[in-house]
Amino acid sequence: MPNLVVVNHPLVQHKLTLMRMKQTPVAEFRRLVREVALLLGYEITRDLPLATADIETPLMPMQAPLLAGKKVCLVSILRAGNGLLEGMLDLMPSARVGHIGLYRDPATLQPVEYYYKVPQDVADRPVIIVDPMLATANSAVAAVSRVKRDGVKDIKLACLLAAPEGVKRMNDAHPDVTVFTAAVDQGLNDHGYILPGLGDAGDRIYGTR
Ligand code: PRP
Ligand code: URA
Repeated sequence: MPNLVVVNHPLVQHKLTLMRMKQTPVAEFRRLVREVALLLGYEITRDLPLATADIETPLMPMQAPLLAGKKVCLVSILRAGNGLLEGMLDLMPSARVGHIGLYRDPATLQPVEYYYKVPQDVADRPVIIVDPMLATANSAVAAVSRVKRDGVKDIKLACLLAAPEGVKRMNDAHPDVTVFTAAVDQGLNDHGYILPGLGDAGDRIYGTR
């Protein structure tokens, strides 16, 4: 599949398995999401531009690399996206943050937008949309379309788990967006849940049901 990066690191795979286990308690699930976000964030930011700065170490002057350009804007798809957001912010504490409130109508599986707030200069920034689950991809496709309406051009998507159907749909709808995920699972059940998956990510992060 083009524009798909599976982060196949042993630490990521181990933590993902712990998250899939139904007996994993809320506090541990939340901590694991945050840790995996950090590792996904490391991969997803690999192509950030660098510039050379003149600095002085305690011993001598040197030219050294520093991040260049506008800071990344992380856009969290509420509510489960906030779990990933925390870990990404550990890695990029100066990142700007946007939120898009979307929930899946359980009957139609179509996303319903209830909130949208992003930095006013978001169009000038690289944007990483974060949401643990790419199932039908209806939510992520809508989120990408929404930020594109604001002029954003450089967009990546970070998730924990993707269904093949969702990866294809994202690729068809937004071929310019690369999806970073910890795993691609078997497929979707009749209710649009990823199999084998990890269940409802929002419920598992927040202990709701
Ligand atoms: C979940 C998940 C994604 C969406 C994925 O959110 O966090 O946003 O479903 O499904 P899709 O790819 O089929 O659109 P949900 O709608 O359950 O809302 P929540 O985060 O508030 O729990
Ligand atoms: N949303 C979730 O939280 N889990 C799924 O498996 C599908 C959508």
